[in-house]
Amino acid sequence: MSSFEGKVAAITGGASGIGRKTALLFAQKGADISISDLQTEAGEETRRMVEALGRKCLFMKVDVTKEAEVAEWIQKTVSTLGGLHIGINNAGIDGVAAYTDSYPNDVFQRVMDINVNGVWYGMKAQIAHMKANGGGSIVNIASVAGLMALPRNIAYTASKHAVIGMSKVAAVEYARKGIRVNAVCPSFTETPMVIDSLVRQDSGLDLETMGQMNPMKRIAQPEEIARAIVYLCSEDASYVNAHSMIVDGGLSVI
Ligand SMILES: NC(=O)c1ccc[n+]([C@@H]2O[C@H](COP(=O)([O-])OP(=O)(O)OC[C@H]3O[C@@H](n4cnc5c(N)ncnc54)[C@H](O)[C@@H]3O)[C@@H](O)[C@H]2O)c1
Repeated sequence: MSSFEGKVAAITGGASGIGRKTALLFAQKGADISISDLQTEAGEETRRMVEALGRKCLFMKVDVTKEAEVAEWIQKTVSTLGGLHIGINNAGIDGVAAYTDSYPNDVFQRVMDINVNGVWYGMKAQIAHMKANGGGSIVNIASVAGLMALPRNIAYTASKHAVIGMSKVAAVEYARKGIRVNAVCPSFTETPMVIDSLVRQDSGLDLETMGQMNPMKRIAQPEEIARAIVYLCSEDASYVNAHSMIVDGGLSVI
């Protein structure tokens, strides 16, 4: 896969899980990295991990639901690292498990705010820079829940369908400006989100049982999602645009 030498990648939710692994993989391939997250300590830890790979890294505490904070982070990325070529809108939450008629309104709003507005604000700030500076590549992290129903998760399912729709619109609008926009749709991946929600929802499931639902008889590792994200941003994917790439071990076809 092509080198990312001379490129700058900005990743939301880079303190943990898929976002952290994506930051490290881009850094291994030569990119300088800007990460944002609500979690300061873990964000600083990712920064140190990237720097240990010999790349520059900026970490900023940013709430993706605050448009001004997201815009400031992207401006600081450009002024500190000298540009912006890749935007990964990854920060997200899963909400709670509840049937539609009893799903809590405040949780619904919070999930939409982070998973939908957060991705939109990320794209707005990234596109504003990229369209004036020769283009770039954006990947938004959706989910297989953006393509199918995840029962007892109406907010998460709605939010991830929205991420796919927004990605397609932006892909079409900015194709002539040299900006490609794609989405990645993972299934269960071993990250704090999944581990925490098993505990929080007291679901009776564990990682092993979750894995057994998949044709590959295991859930994904975050590196496996990061590799798909990095591919979509690479020159190897130069004609891949408006795509929603399923990375689910085959789960969504059974
Ligand atoms: N883990 C899975 O099974 C799975 C499956 C499909 C899709 N996804 C998606 O992948 C993305 C990454 O999830 P993950 O599994 O790595 O989870 P994670 O919890 O490990 O990481 C998510 C990160 O987003 C950050 N974040 C949450 N709210 C934020 C906010 N308002 N502002 C800034 N940062 C915020 C968190 O602090 C955390 O560091 C999410 O969009 C998630 O929906 C995950």
